[in-house]
Amino acid sequence: MELNKIRQDAIQKLQNVTTERELAEIKTLLFGKTGELTGLMRKLKELPADEKPAAGKMINDLRVELLSLCDEKERTLHINAIEAKLNSDGIDLSIDKPFHTVGAAHPVNQVRKKLVDYFIGNGYVVYDSPEIETDYYNFQALNIPPDHPARDMQDTFFISDGILLRTQTSSGQIRLMEKNKPPIKMICPGRVFRNDDDSTHSPVFHQMEGLVVDKHVTLCDLKGTLEGFAKFIFGDETEIRFRPSYFPFTEPSVEVDVSCFNCHGSGCRVCKNTGWIEILGAGMVNRKVLENCGIDPDEYSGFAFGMGLDRITMITSAINDIKLLWENDVRFLRMFR
Ligand code: PHE
Repeated sequence: MELNKIRQDAIQKLQNVTTERELAEIKTLLFGKTGELTGLMRKLKELPADEKPAAGKMINDLRVELLSLCDEKERTLHINAIEAKLNSDGIDLSIDKPFHTVGAAHPVNQVRKKLVDYFIGNGYVVYDSPEIETDYYNFQALNIPPDHPARDMQDTFFISDGILLRTQTSSGQIRLMEKNKPPIKMICPGRVFRNDDDSTHSPVFHQMEGLVVDKHVTLCDLKGTLEGFAKFIFGDETEIRFRPSYFPFTEPSVEVDVSCFNCHGSGCRVCKNTGWIEILGAGMVNRKVLENCGIDPDEYSGFAFGMGLDRITMITSAINDIKLLWENDVRFLRMFR
Protein backbone atom coordinates (compact mmCIF):
# COMPACT_ATOMS: atom_id res chain seq x y z
CA MET A 1 0.00 0.00 0.00
CA GLU A 2 2.77 2.36 0.98
CA LEU A 3 4.60 1.55 -2.22
CA ASN A 4 1.60 2.38 -4.31
CA LYS A 5 1.23 5.75 -2.64
CA ILE A 6 4.89 6.61 -3.17
CA ARG A 7 4.50 5.62 -6.81
CA GLN A 8 1.36 7.70 -7.38
CA ASP A 9 2.90 10.72 -5.64
CA ALA A 10 6.14 10.52 -7.55
CA ILE A 11 4.41 10.21 -10.93
CA GLN A 12 2.16 13.12 -10.11
CA LYS A 13 5.11 15.31 -9.08
CA LEU A 14 7.18 14.39 -12.11
CA GLN A 15 4.33 15.44 -14.37
CA ASN A 16 4.37 18.92 -12.89
CA VAL A 17 8.12 19.39 -12.99
CA THR A 18 9.23 22.25 -15.26
CA THR A 19 12.84 22.86 -14.29
CA GLU A 20 15.94 20.73 -13.81
CA ARG A 21 16.14 21.99 -10.26
CA GLU A 22 12.68 20.70 -9.37
CA LEU A 23 13.63 17.36 -10.85
CA ALA A 24 16.77 17.19 -8.71
CA GLU A 25 14.68 17.86 -5.63
CA ILE A 26 12.30 15.02 -6.40
CA LYS A 27 15.22 12.67 -6.98
CA THR A 28 16.65 13.53 -3.56
CA LEU A 29 13.25 13.03 -2.01
CA LEU A 30 13.04 9.52 -3.47
CA PHE A 31 16.56 8.19 -3.68
CA GLY A 32 18.56 10.47 -1.36
CA LYS A 33 20.04 9.35 1.98
CA THR A 34 16.84 10.17 3.76
CA GLY A 35 14.70 9.54 0.71
CA GLU A 36 11.44 7.60 0.79
CA LEU A 37 12.69 4.56 -1.12
CA THR A 38 15.93 4.50 0.82
CA GLY A 39 13.89 4.51 4.00
CA LEU A 40 11.79 1.57 2.79
CA MET A 41 14.92 -0.41 1.99
CA ARG A 42 16.11 0.15 5.55
CA LYS A 43 12.77 -1.00 6.96
CA LEU A 44 13.20 -4.34 5.14
CA LYS A 45 15.37 -5.48 8.01
CA GLU A 46 12.41 -5.39 10.33
CA LEU A 47 10.31 -7.77 8.20
CA PRO A 48 10.14 -11.51 8.92
CA ALA A 49 12.73 -13.43 6.93
CA ASP A 50 10.19 -15.15 4.62
CA GLU A 51 8.65 -11.86 3.52
CA LYS A 52 11.94 -10.09 2.81
CA PRO A 53 12.67 -11.37 -0.73
CA ALA A 54 9.22 -10.52 -2.15
CA ALA A 55 9.15 -7.08 -0.48
CA GLY A 56 12.73 -6.34 -1.53
CA LYS A 57 11.85 -7.15 -5.12
CA MET A 58 8.81 -4.87 -5.10
CA ILE A 59 10.81 -1.95 -3.71
CA ASN A 60 13.58 -2.47 -6.22
CA ASP A 61 11.13 -2.72 -9.15
CA LEU A 62 9.61 0.58 -8.11
CA ARG A 63 13.08 2.12 -7.79
CA VAL A 64 13.98 1.07 -11.34
CA GLU A 65 10.67 2.32 -12.71
CA LEU A 66 10.93 5.73 -11.03
CA LEU A 67 14.59 6.16 -12.00
CA SER A 68 13.73 5.61 -15.64
CA LEU A 69 10.82 8.07 -15.41
CA CYS A 70 13.23 10.63 -13.98
CA ASP A 71 15.71 10.05 -16.82
CA GLU A 72 12.97 10.49 -19.37
CA LYS A 73 11.89 13.74 -17.72
CA GLU A 74 15.49 14.93 -17.75
CA ARG A 75 15.73 14.38 -21.49
CA THR A 76 12.48 16.22 -22.16
CA LEU A 77 13.59 19.16 -20.02
CA HIS A 78 16.91 19.30 -21.86
CA ILE A 79 15.27 19.35 -25.29
CA ASN A 80 12.78 21.99 -24.15
CA ALA A 81 15.63 24.13 -22.88
CA ILE A 82 17.41 23.98 -26.26
CA GLU A 83 14.23 24.83 -28.11
CA ALA A 84 13.51 27.75 -25.81
CA LYS A 85 17.04 29.08 -26.34
CA LEU A 86 16.79 28.77 -30.11
CA ASN A 87 13.46 30.59 -30.10
CA SER A 88 14.64 33.39 -27.88
CA ASP A 89 18.02 33.95 -29.61
CA GLY A 90 16.19 35.01 -32.78
CA ILE A 91 18.36 35.22 -35.94
CA ASP A 92 17.42 38.17 -38.13
CA LEU A 93 17.66 36.85 -41.67
CA SER A 94 16.62 40.15 -43.15
CA ILE A 95 19.72 41.99 -41.98
CA ASP A 96 21.36 43.82 -44.88
CA LYS A 97 24.99 42.86 -44.56
CA PRO A 98 27.10 40.82 -46.99
CA PHE A 99 28.75 38.18 -44.87
CA HIS A 100 29.69 35.75 -47.62
CA THR A 101 31.17 36.94 -50.89
CA VAL A 102 31.00 34.54 -53.79
CA GLY A 103 34.21 34.08 -55.75
CA ALA A 104 34.53 33.91 -59.51
CA ALA A 105 36.89 32.51 -62.10
CA HIS A 106 39.90 34.66 -63.02
CA PRO A 107 39.26 36.73 -66.18
CA VAL A 108 41.79 34.72 -68.19
CA ASN A 109 40.16 31.52 -66.99
CA GLN A 110 36.76 32.84 -68.02
CA VAL A 111 38.09 33.45 -71.54
CA ARG A 112 39.81 30.06 -71.62
CA LYS A 113 36.65 28.28 -70.54
CA LYS A 114 34.57 30.10 -73.14
CA LEU A 115 37.00 29.18 -75.92
CA VAL A 116 37.44 25.60 -74.76
CA ASP A 117 33.64 25.21 -74.70
CA TYR A 118 33.43 26.61 -78.22
CA PHE A 119 36.01 24.23 -79.65
CA ILE A 120 34.68 21.21 -77.78
CA GLY A 121 31.30 22.06 -79.30
CA ASN A 122 33.00 21.91 -82.71
CA GLY A 123 34.41 18.44 -82.14
CA TYR A 124 37.88 19.22 -80.77
CA VAL A 125 39.49 17.30 -77.92
CA VAL A 126 41.39 19.13 -75.17
CA TYR A 127 45.00 18.03 -74.85
CA ASP A 128 47.17 18.76 -71.83
CA SER A 129 50.88 18.96 -72.60
CA PRO A 130 53.81 19.39 -70.15
CA GLU A 131 55.09 22.84 -69.16
CA ILE A 132 58.62 21.53 -68.72
CA GLU A 133 59.76 20.40 -72.13
CA THR A 134 62.74 19.10 -74.01
CA ASP A 135 64.41 21.11 -76.74
CA TYR A 136 63.16 18.45 -79.15
CA TYR A 137 59.42 19.00 -78.57
CA ASN A 138 59.60 22.76 -78.13
CA PHE A 139 61.89 23.42 -81.09
CA GLN A 140 63.50 20.68 -83.14
CA ALA A 141 60.45 18.60 -83.99
CA LEU A 142 58.71 21.87 -84.89
CA ASN A 143 61.35 22.40 -87.56
CA ILE A 144 63.41 24.82 -85.49
CA PRO A 145 66.93 23.35 -85.41
CA PRO A 146 69.59 24.63 -82.95
CA ASP A 147 70.92 28.05 -84.00
CA HIS A 148 67.83 28.71 -86.09
CA PRO A 149 67.14 32.49 -85.98
CA ALA A 150 63.47 31.77 -85.08
CA ARG A 151 64.69 30.82 -81.59
CA ASP A 152 65.44 34.50 -81.02
CA MET A 153 61.71 35.29 -81.23
CA GLN A 154 61.15 33.21 -78.11
CA ASP A 155 63.75 34.05 -75.49
CA THR A 156 63.85 30.78 -73.59
CA PHE A 157 64.22 29.85 -69.92
CA PHE A 158 66.50 26.82 -69.82
CA ILE A 159 66.43 24.51 -66.82
CA SER A 160 69.40 22.44 -67.86
CA ASP A 161 71.00 21.33 -71.09
CA GLY A 162 68.15 20.48 -73.47
CA ILE A 163 65.43 20.95 -70.80
CA LEU A 164 63.39 24.15 -70.79
CA LEU A 165 60.10 25.82 -69.87
CA ARG A 166 57.98 25.55 -73.01
CA THR A 167 57.86 28.81 -74.94
CA GLN A 168 54.76 27.80 -76.90
CA THR A 169 51.93 25.28 -76.72
CA SER A 170 52.97 24.14 -80.21
CA SER A 171 55.01 21.44 -78.44
CA GLY A 172 51.61 19.84 -77.74
CA GLN A 173 51.16 19.36 -81.51
CA ILE A 174 54.17 17.06 -81.63
CA ARG A 175 53.29 15.10 -78.50
CA LEU A 176 49.76 14.55 -79.75
CA MET A 177 50.72 13.57 -83.31
CA GLU A 178 53.38 11.15 -82.10
CA LYS A 179 50.69 9.15 -80.33
CA ASN A 180 47.57 9.79 -82.44
CA LYS A 181 47.06 9.47 -86.14
CA PRO A 182 44.59 11.53 -88.23
CA PRO A 183 41.82 12.53 -88.18
CA ILE A 184 42.99 14.94 -85.46
CA LYS A 185 41.12 17.90 -84.00
CA MET A 186 42.65 19.18 -80.81
CA ILE A 187 43.18 22.27 -78.73
CA CYS A 188 45.93 22.59 -76.18
CA PRO A 189 45.51 25.42 -73.65
CA GLY A 190 48.19 26.14 -71.06
CA ARG A 191 50.93 28.28 -69.58
CA VAL A 192 54.01 29.21 -71.59
CA PHE A 193 57.19 31.02 -70.55
CA ARG A 194 59.46 33.56 -72.20
CA ASN A 195 62.09 35.93 -70.90
CA ASP A 196 60.03 38.96 -71.82
CA ASP A 197 58.66 41.67 -69.55
CA ASP A 198 56.79 44.88 -70.37
CA SER A 199 53.22 46.19 -70.30
CA THR A 200 52.01 43.71 -72.93
CA HIS A 201 54.43 40.85 -72.18
CA SER A 202 54.77 38.75 -69.06
CA PRO A 203 57.42 36.04 -68.46
CA VAL A 204 54.54 33.62 -67.99
CA PHE A 205 51.37 33.81 -70.03
CA HIS A 206 48.70 31.58 -71.54
CA GLN A 207 48.30 30.23 -75.02
CA MET A 208 45.84 27.98 -76.74
CA GLU A 209 47.01 25.86 -79.61
CA GLY A 210 44.68 24.40 -82.21
CA LEU A 211 45.52 21.55 -84.58
CA VAL A 212 43.49 19.87 -87.30
CA VAL A 213 44.97 17.11 -89.46
CA ASP A 214 43.02 15.02 -91.95
CA LYS A 215 42.79 14.26 -95.66
CA HIS A 216 42.27 17.34 -97.86
CA VAL A 217 42.50 19.99 -95.13
CA THR A 218 43.14 23.36 -96.79
CA LEU A 219 43.82 27.00 -95.99
CA CYS A 220 40.09 27.63 -96.60
CA ASP A 221 39.28 25.32 -93.69
CA LEU A 222 41.65 27.33 -91.53
CA LYS A 223 40.02 30.57 -92.57
CA GLY A 224 36.49 29.27 -91.97
CA THR A 225 37.48 27.89 -88.58
CA LEU A 226 39.09 31.12 -87.42
CA GLU A 227 36.21 33.21 -88.77
CA GLY A 228 33.73 31.18 -86.72
CA PHE A 229 35.90 31.52 -83.65
CA ALA A 230 36.36 35.29 -84.13
CA LYS A 231 32.63 35.90 -84.53
CA PHE A 232 31.97 33.83 -81.44
CA ILE A 233 34.36 35.76 -79.24
CA PHE A 234 34.23 39.28 -80.74
CA GLY A 235 30.68 39.41 -82.15
CA ASP A 236 28.81 38.46 -85.31
CA GLU A 237 29.89 41.43 -87.45
CA THR A 238 33.57 40.57 -86.95
CA GLU A 239 35.64 39.94 -90.06
CA ILE A 240 39.11 38.44 -90.21
CA ARG A 241 42.05 38.95 -92.53
CA PHE A 242 45.19 36.94 -93.15
CA ARG A 243 48.59 38.58 -93.49
CA PRO A 244 51.56 36.56 -94.74
CA SER A 245 53.95 35.63 -91.95
CA TYR A 246 56.56 33.08 -91.02
CA PHE A 247 56.69 30.22 -88.54
CA PRO A 248 59.08 27.32 -89.13
CA PHE A 249 56.35 24.77 -88.32
CA THR A 250 53.70 26.10 -90.71
CA GLU A 251 53.92 26.69 -94.45
CA PRO A 252 52.38 28.95 -95.55
CA SER A 253 52.11 30.92 -92.32
CA VAL A 254 49.74 33.76 -91.54
CA GLU A 255 49.15 36.40 -88.93
CA VAL A 256 45.44 36.79 -88.26
CA ASP A 257 43.70 40.11 -87.55
CA VAL A 258 40.08 40.73 -86.58
CA SER A 259 38.15 43.85 -87.50
CA CYS A 260 37.94 46.11 -84.45
CA PHE A 261 34.88 45.18 -82.40
CA ASN A 262 35.01 48.59 -80.76
CA CYS A 263 34.97 51.00 -83.74
CA HIS A 264 34.09 48.52 -86.53
CA GLY A 265 36.95 49.75 -88.66
CA SER A 266 36.85 53.53 -88.35
CA GLY A 267 39.82 53.62 -85.98
CA CYS A 268 40.01 53.92 -82.20
CA ARG A 269 42.28 53.38 -79.22
CA VAL A 270 41.62 49.62 -79.05
CA CYS A 271 42.87 49.04 -82.62
CA LYS A 272 45.45 51.84 -82.49
CA ASN A 273 43.55 53.58 -85.30
CA THR A 274 44.12 50.78 -87.80
CA GLY A 275 40.64 49.23 -87.68
CA TRP A 276 42.26 45.80 -87.16
CA ILE A 277 43.50 43.90 -84.13
CA GLU A 278 46.12 41.16 -84.39
CA ILE A 279 45.01 38.12 -82.46
CA LEU A 280 46.95 35.02 -83.46
CA GLY A 281 49.46 33.16 -85.60
CA ALA A 282 48.48 30.24 -87.80
CA GLY A 283 49.26 28.30 -90.95
CA MET A 284 49.24 24.96 -92.73
CA VAL A 285 51.23 22.35 -90.81
CA ASN A 286 54.69 22.12 -92.38
CA ARG A 287 55.29 18.81 -94.21
CA LYS A 288 58.46 18.32 -92.18
CA VAL A 289 56.50 18.49 -88.92
CA LEU A 290 54.07 15.81 -90.14
CA GLU A 291 57.01 13.66 -91.20
CA ASN A 292 58.70 14.13 -87.80
CA CYS A 293 55.58 12.62 -86.24
CA GLY A 294 55.31 9.71 -88.66
CA ILE A 295 52.37 11.12 -90.62
CA ASP A 296 52.58 10.94 -94.43
CA PRO A 297 52.35 14.53 -95.78
CA ASP A 298 51.28 13.23 -99.19
CA GLU A 299 48.22 11.62 -97.65
CA TYR A 300 47.36 14.12 -94.92
CA SER A 301 47.45 17.87 -94.49
CA GLY A 302 46.54 20.09 -91.57
CA PHE A 303 46.38 23.54 -90.09
CA ALA A 304 47.48 24.91 -86.73
CA PHE A 305 46.86 28.11 -84.87
CA GLY A 306 48.11 29.56 -81.60
CA MET A 307 46.58 32.41 -79.66
CA GLY A 308 47.47 34.27 -76.48
CA LEU A 309 44.66 33.96 -73.94
CA ASP A 310 45.93 36.89 -71.85
CA ARG A 311 46.05 38.98 -74.99
CA ILE A 312 42.48 38.13 -75.94
CA THR A 313 41.36 38.93 -72.38
CA MET A 314 43.15 42.27 -72.57
CA ILE A 315 41.51 43.08 -75.90
CA THR A 316 37.97 42.11 -74.91
CA SER A 317 38.17 43.74 -71.46
CA ALA A 318 40.18 46.82 -72.48
CA ILE A 319 43.05 46.09 -70.08
CA ASN A 320 46.24 47.92 -70.98
CA ASP A 321 48.72 46.27 -68.64
CA ILE A 322 49.18 42.49 -68.61
CA LYS A 323 50.52 42.70 -65.02
CA LEU A 324 46.97 43.39 -63.82
CA LEU A 325 46.13 39.83 -64.83
CA TRP A 326 48.98 38.44 -62.74
CA GLU A 327 48.93 40.62 -59.63
CA ASN A 328 45.56 39.19 -58.57
CA ASP A 329 44.51 42.34 -56.72
CA VAL A 330 40.99 41.45 -55.61
CA ARG A 331 39.77 45.01 -56.26
CA PHE A 332 40.64 44.46 -59.91
CA LEU A 333 39.38 40.88 -60.08
CA ARG A 334 36.03 41.86 -58.54
CA MET A 335 35.20 43.76 -61.71
CA PHE A 336 34.96 40.42 -63.51
CA ARG A 337 32.45 38.80 -61.20
N1 PHE B 1 53.53 29.03 -81.57
C1 PHE B 1 53.37 30.31 -82.24
C2 PHE B 1 53.79 31.40 -81.26
O1 PHE B 1 53.88 31.16 -80.10
C3 PHE B 1 51.95 30.53 -82.69
C4 PHE B 1 51.54 29.57 -83.77
C5 PHE B 1 50.91 28.39 -83.43
C6 PHE B 1 51.76 29.86 -85.08
C7 PHE B 1 50.50 27.49 -84.42
C8 PHE B 1 51.36 29.00 -86.08
C9 PHE B 1 50.73 27.82 -85.74
O2 PHE B 1 54.01 32.53 -81.67
